[in-house]
Amino acid sequence: MNILGIESSCDETAVAVYSDAGLLSNVIASQTVHRRYGGVVPELASRAHQQSIWGVTEQALEEAGLQLKDIDAIAVTNGPGLMGALLVGLCFAKGLALSLGKPIIGVNHIDAHIYANFIESKPEYPFVSLIVSGGHTRLVLVKGFLDHVLLGDTRDDASGEAFDKTAKILGLPYPGGPEMDRRAREGDRKFVKFPQALLSEGYEFSFSGLKTSVLYHIEAIDEPERAAYLEKNMNDLCASISEAITEVLTKKTRRALKEHGVKDLVLAGGVSANSMLREKMTALGTETGVRVHIPKPVYCTDNAAMIAVTGYYKAKSGQFDELVSLEPFASQTA
Ligand code: KG4
Ligand code: ZN
Repeated sequence: MNILGIESSCDETAVAVYSDAGLLSNVIASQTVHRRYGGVVPELASRAHQQSIWGVTEQALEEAGLQLKDIDAIAVTNGPGLMGALLVGLCFAKGLALSLGKPIIGVNHIDAHIYANFIESKPEYPFVSLIVSGGHTRLVLVKGFLDHVLLGDTRDDASGEAFDKTAKILGLPYPGGPEMDRRAREGDRKFVKFPQALLSEGYEFSFSGLKTSVLYHIEAIDEPERAAYLEKNMNDLCASISEAITEVLTKKTRRALKEHGVKDLVLAGGVSANSMLREKMTALGTETGVRVHIPKPVYCTDNAAMIAVTGYYKAKSGQFDELVSLEPFASQTA
């Protein structure tokens, strides 16, 4: 069985093929047009998807050594994400499915981040998953394939947003997360003790206070000296912010592992590419004896391999969608 996976929920146009033999191809076209605006501009994202989706598909097929006639089903992200961006991938997938006479499978983008772990690893159910991306930060108990219990969500910003927004306050280029990661490796984590919110409360997260705290810290330094202070201490500030974010994530994950007594922990989403988080979660695994699964960075950030693999398991369990009723959705609260 060969599944073509299509992802267009934000600013990556991505197509991949997953088969009985595993992942055959994984092509990603990252949109650079947003850089000068310091964030993703939805209308420009839709246009860029439209321009590259056919070429990316051809390349994914070529790298897989397959033709369209060899594809057995089309898996496509139908949400959550930017509506216009989702529509490009969904309409393209529907057109392909209709013309090939093959079934379509709608894939939830957040679920797909979890199942990205099945590309190179085999987590055992039940497991706890920490989903950390630009749009989401949640802890989930996964009892079986697509059988999820939400343990806790963020009340405000997602952890990826916390990285991006604090990086912007420090004057780092967009997207801030990877740049902050790079600098944090050279910095002192104890330079400033930034707040770790809601530590004593369940599994909910809050990162908006951190953003304000970083802003106040910078504003406390008078303008003529501020630039020099930032230049001198940038790596230490990045390390201190990363420490605050990753500590909260690690402490709450430790609590979930203990409460639910699972043997596997699965990291998912773009922020799981962060080296400090990977280091802390690996140490948590050593401390608790829990097997820690962290996808390699290319499967952490948005990609279509995760859509294709989730589509593959959905197809295996007979979960197909109707062309007429499969609709995009922008947000998901639970
Ligand atoms: O999962 P993803 O690619 O897209 C969403 O579904 O949101 O996650 C993107 C987020 C961005 O906020 C980005 O800054 C963050 O993941 N990110 C990182 C790193 N790589 C990506 N944050 C910290 N360290 C990284 N190495
Ligand atoms: Zn994502």
